[in-house]
Amino acid sequence: MNGKHLFVAYLQDHIGTDLTFEQIEASIEKPKQIQLGDLAFPCFQLAKIFKKSPIEIAKELAQGNISGEFEKIEAVGSYVNVFLNKKAEALSLLTQILKEKEAYANHRFGHGKTILLDLSSPNIAKPFSMGHLRSTVIGSSIAAISEKCGYQTVKINYIGDWGTQFGKLISAYLKWGEENKVRNNPIEELTKLYVRFHEEAERDPSLNDEGRMWFKKLEDHDPKAKELWVWFKEVSLEAFQKIYELLDVQFDSYNGEAYFNDKIDASVKALQEKNLLELSEGAQVVRVGDDLPPCLIKKTDGATLYATRDITAAIYRKSTYDFTEALYVVGHEQSLHFEQVKRVLKKLGHVWADHMHHVPFGLILQNGKKMSTRKGKTVLLETVILEAVKLAEQNIRSKNPELHEIATVARQVGVGAVIFHDLKNEKGNDVEFSLEMMLKFEGDTGPYVQYTAARIQTLLNKGNFTGNVPQEFSIGSESWGILSVLSEFPEVVELAFHRKEPSIISKYVLKLSHKFNHYYAHVKILDSKETPERLALCAAVQIVLKEGLRLLGVQTPNKM
Ligand code: ARG
Repeated sequence: MNGKHLFVAYLQDHIGTDLTFEQIEASIEKPKQIQLGDLAFPCFQLAKIFKKSPIEIAKELAQGNISGEFEKIEAVGSYVNVFLNKKAEALSLLTQILKEKEAYANHRFGHGKTILLDLSSPNIAKPFSMGHLRSTVIGSSIAAISEKCGYQTVKINYIGDWGTQFGKLISAYLKWGEENKVRNNPIEELTKLYVRFHEEAERDPSLNDEGRMWFKKLEDHDPKAKELWVWFKEVSLEAFQKIYELLDVQFDSYNGEAYFNDKIDASVKALQEKNLLELSEGAQVVRVGDDLPPCLIKKTDGATLYATRDITAAIYRKSTYDFTEALYVVGHEQSLHFEQVKRVLKKLGHVWADHMHHVPFGLILQNGKKMSTRKGKTVLLETVILEAVKLAEQNIRSKNPELHEIATVARQVGVGAVIFHDLKNEKGNDVEFSLEMMLKFEGDTGPYVQYTAARIQTLLNKGNFTGNVPQEFSIGSESWGILSVLSEFPEVVELAFHRKEPSIISKYVLKLSHKFNHYYAHVKILDSKETPERLALCAAVQIVLKEGLRLLGVQTPNKM
């Protein structure tokens, strides 16, 4: 709020040392209890500079003249606490939000800088897993938050489309596959073939040699192998696309692992030239320090590996996009891999590898165990989402049968529930997969926040709110509580960016919704003398709720 700046200016005038405006501003806190004041300035740092007790300094600083800009300034222990002029604060904040709308809480500190995100990145011919869902929604949200901070983003879907498994798949398809079945149900059929291959190979290990042979053929551009691989990739991407459409996420690039096939030799050569490659049990490796296992670059048979591709991709991305930061939104089980990749790049002399960060997240567990596709049966993600949409639709029909465009709203609510369920927990935590929890529409859920925003829309319509900023504002304790939360949004966005933590936004929109619903239950909004200013407050809450949800990748229906 504006009052914060006034308070900082006041402190700067009274401190008598050359702390900058920014330094003072950064140290301002909020008192633990609202009765103690609106903002607090701790005097410990000054105590060191002036060699006096912080209590004494707080007393002195609280003594200055104030004329109307604050209600009161007082020393509380080692803090200077200020009570802002609530009316002026309220009007200035409401004016700001209603004028700036969704641009409220935009920052400029990212201007001119690019953040690259490696996200989603499912593997073709395999189901889109819960882990890929996490990567997709966490990554998209971090991208939206970064953009709000002024950054440009490049979202790369690094499709897993290369590796020995495609040799096995080709060989399985040629033995047991049926074209029609694969066309109609690609992911399920291809997964079945893959699982069958592994089962039969346990009995007959010669199958593995056959798989290797087909992969070799693929690497050597054999037309038959290539044709099948291209086809598997096409049908897989189509299936993934359905999920991306449901989630409404887009990518700037789909350059996956295979894209780097013709670029890998150059990076292996660079490693050779720097004498970094060593032979270890027939394979070529780079030693990356005593604390980590060596990074595998080439297998005994000359095949390149996951790490080799990531090293090559990073070099390509740096020269193509000149990123300020590159974020790899991938489960925490791959931490070692990314650390190795970074170290190899550093050894190659690429200092920018320090700006690559693995943004890890927890696993989705099923009965306490990691979900596995290898052994078959996992829930297909598309089914989960469509189930959520169906349930949302039933819910809406029972509450509001007259509603127009139920299908659209149900999609927004069902998908919102799935996304919010993921993003409401700190990303590092493991999450137990539970369809039931995901589809809950009460309590701290996405639909609850969406419903709050929709309820406000109804109020605004009924009260014919025109968007005008009020001239007056009479503060009550309820409204002051909401205003204070609204004023936190810019800091919340910044914190979420620095921590790369969407759950900071979800917790914030929940808090704002709780505050608002409390207000709604206790204050008469329509048909009151104060209706115009109250509606302005409602409108400001709605702007911030919608924007917060947007940062999470959740849409807000106008009615539900
Ligand atoms: N396709 C990989 C998997 O499903 C994730 C890729 C992550 N990104 C990367 N640059 N390695 O495990």
